[in-house]
Amino acid sequence: MTIRRERPGDREAIAAVVAAAFGSKAEADLVDAIRSSPEYIAELSLVAESRGEVIGHVMVSFTELLDGSLRHRIFHLSPLAVSPSHQRQGVGSALVEAVIVGCERNGAPFVVLEGDPRYYSRLGFEPSAPHGITIDLPAWAPPEAAQIRVLGDYDRSIRGRVVYPPAFDAVADR
Ligand SMILES: CC(C)(COP(=O)(O)OP(=O)(O)OC[C@H]1O[C@@H](n2cnc3c(N)ncnc32)[C@H](O)[C@@H]1OP(=O)(O)O)[C@@H](O)C(=O)NCCC(=O)NCCS
Repeated sequence: MTIRRERPGDREAIAAVVAAAFGSKAEADLVDAIRSSPEYIAELSLVAESRGEVIGHVMVSFTELLDGSLRHRIFHLSPLAVSPSHQRQGVGSALVEAVIVGCERNGAPFVVLEGDPRYYSRLGFEPSAPHGITIDLPAWAPPEAAQIRVLGDYDRSIRGRVVYPPAFDAVADR
């Protein structure tokens, strides 16, 4: 398995992997929407490839953190998907680690995400609320689903409420 940056010819393969992993087209549409938005960071859209086939994908893009009149541009991991036939082989963990390295290279003080803490806690994520960072979660999600991975350039003065960009509107209430 190799991990590399997404290339233009990967679009359909990524959409297929994301739709298969989530069992819905919404997250594949989300990937397309982020890719064509100003928040897209080409260097932080990665694929896992095995025998020439895309088997996983992860994307980190910019989102906004509002703190009163202050607006911070921060790094947000979403979505992460591994093809069902290649799950539980470390592909998801490897994608997250690789994209985190890319975030550090881009000067990110931390990365936020909304996801299952039982999975992401293994990957160095922790609840974001104690760091002063909140995410408006859907009603069904536990508060610990709002998570942060603190990186080397962490700055505790950066805090506030995460506001997703319009690309996320279609999946906002899921
Ligand atoms: C979540 C996902 C990316 C994990 O990918 P993966 O390549 O299987 O992950 P890894 O191999 O690195 O880790 C697998 C381990 O995580 C566990 N795991 C996966 N999802 C989990 C979850 N929601 N809660 C707890 N553990 C979870 C697996 O049980 C497995 O545990 P094991 O090692 O003890 O067997 C993959 O299952 C997937 O694409 N799921 C559908 C999409 C999704 O939910 N994405 C994440 C939200 S953005």
